Amino acid sequence: MKNIYFYLTILFYLTIFISCDKKLPPVNIYQSDEYKNLTKKELITGESIWATACFRCHRYGTNGAVILEEKEYWDANASKGLDELFKSVWEGKKGEEGVMPPKGFCNLCSEDEIRYSVLYLFHLAKRAQEAAEIQVKEKQS
Ligand code: HEC
Repeated sequence: MKNIYFYLTILFYLTIFISCDKKLPPVNIYQSDEYKNLTKKELITGESIWATACFRCHRYGTNGAVILEEKEYWDANASKGLDELFKSVWEGKKGEEGVMPPKGFCNLCSEDEIRYSVLYLFHLAKRAQEAAEIQVKEKQS
């Protein structure tokens, strides 16, 4: 009888171990606490990095980058979560049409600054997409 308790105890710890080992799925950027709780200061930090580095490619689609108005692309990317997107920018990424250099050309940027620039990019993308939608509606009416 003692044996059963022994095995049950092992099973119990094994279950805990396996469930802790599972990686949580990434949180969509737009639903993340980091995005929702962005302070004004963090937004300004992100904006300044955007304006000196990221905007060169992502504003007009230079070097094969995707512009912010491409809602489908950025919505799909948002679901990769902040960690993976940060990694893409920090290490650089080869896209279908071009290459993003490590740190998106902001060589002096810290990890936090790159993180805020990614969050700012999604913040700005939402606004650019809304503006584009209004323009389409105005043309139709
Ligand atoms: C030299 C041009 C260039 C610059 C500068 C640049 N990017 Fe990119 N970026 C790209 C290209 C090219 C891709 C890949 C496009 C694709 O996936 O098809 C990309 C992709 C991305 C992605 C999606 C990554 C993924 O995992 O799919 C994010 C987020 C991003 N850039 C953010 C930034 C930020 C933030 C900055 C500024 C710190 C920046 N980029 C600067 C060219 C650039």
